[in-house]
Amino acid sequence: MPKIRVAVIGCGSISKYRHIPEYAANENVELVAFVDPVIERAEKYAELHGGKAYADFKKMLAEVKPDAVSVCTPNALHASMSIAAANAGAHVLVEKPMAVSDEEAEAMIEAAKKNGVHLMVGHNQRFMPPHVKAKQVLQSGILGKVLTFRTSFGHPGPEGWSIDGANSWFFRKPEAIMGAMGDLGVHKSDLIRWMLDDEVSEVAGFVGTLDKKGTEVDDNSSCLLRMKSGAIGTLVASWTYYKGEDNSTILWCENGVMKIGTHPDDQVIVELRNGTVEKHKVGAISTNDNQETSGVIDAFVKSILTDTTPAVSGEDGRASLKVILCAFESQATGKFISVT
Ligand SMILES: NC(=O)c1ccc[n+]([C@@H]2O[C@H](COP(=O)([O-])OP(=O)(O)OC[C@H]3O[C@@H](n4cnc5c(N)ncnc54)[C@H](O)[C@@H]3O)[C@@H](O)[C@H]2O)c1
Repeated sequence: MPKIRVAVIGCGSISKYRHIPEYAANENVELVAFVDPVIERAEKYAELHGGKAYADFKKMLAEVKPDAVSVCTPNALHASMSIAAANAGAHVLVEKPMAVSDEEAEAMIEAAKKNGVHLMVGHNQRFMPPHVKAKQVLQSGILGKVLTFRTSFGHPGPEGWSIDGANSWFFRKPEAIMGAMGDLGVHKSDLIRWMLDDEVSEVAGFVGTLDKKGTEVDDNSSCLLRMKSGAIGTLVASWTYYKGEDNSTILWCENGVMKIGTHPDDQVIVELRNGTVEKHKVGAISTNDNQETSGVIDAFVKSILTDTTPAVSGEDGRASLKVILCAFESQATGKFISVT
């Protein structure tokens, strides 16, 4: 079977740690192009993996005609690049947040449909072993209904992650549009929707810039979520957890509590009201300092090979983004926002 010819657009950190190595390790993929306006970044990978380096993604699409692309660029570019790639007949894996408005997300989904290509969003939290295990436990029914929850994602900020460090686009509003909420909050809105197999119905949010200097994007937010099932909980995103990362979720349920990512060795802990305690060692949650294989790339490749809906569809990405956009609306209006 011919290999899937993949181009990676944006050669920064997420490409370095996840997309490029995971494509390179997938036997069904040939890496054919790398794009970055800082051309040395693209050239470095072209040398390493073969394929051509480009500074301009439109030129790359026209010349290379890839079967699929990864869009790993600043947030504000996701929609236009994904739509152009779909119109060029390429399947699209776009990083989160998939877009910076609901209208953009809708247009991306339409473009993929119109061109008969798959659109997947890089919500890797769903693939992390502790989250997979936690969902299995929930589905087993031992905990009963989820009543309330908290889910949080905080780290010291993208200056320690982005290829451009403190000069990163992550801090520039025209390119990022959103700060910690678009970077981390959207991971957790996606996780909670997926894990609870539920949708968010209402959001209240406090979103602000508390400590990062010289930026207009948010560095902290605390949100209240009401789910369609009636469960209520909190979602927190922060770029100012200077003394380490928190990527944990706790679900308080009818029959007990499940703690996910709260303990370094026992990633999932289930404590039942009858006194039983189950501890599951299932592998770590990926952190900025410790990158685990995401599983996202293999899932994208599988959807292309089997011509099936990707594990995280455009519609999923859109629903998870909507929750975050509602939190900004709540902050701006001082109101609870219904997610419609
Ligand atoms: N799934 C995850 O866990 C995760 C983690 C980190 C980042 N991300 C997402 O990945 C995307 C990229 O983030 P990053 O951390 O790699 O950022 P980064 O700053 O490390 O790299 C971004 C790269 O994009 C390049 N770029 C800018 N404009 C471009 C253009 N027009 N064409 C091609 N390349 C262009 C920059 O030169 C830079 O090399 C963001 O949307 C971010 O939210 C996802």
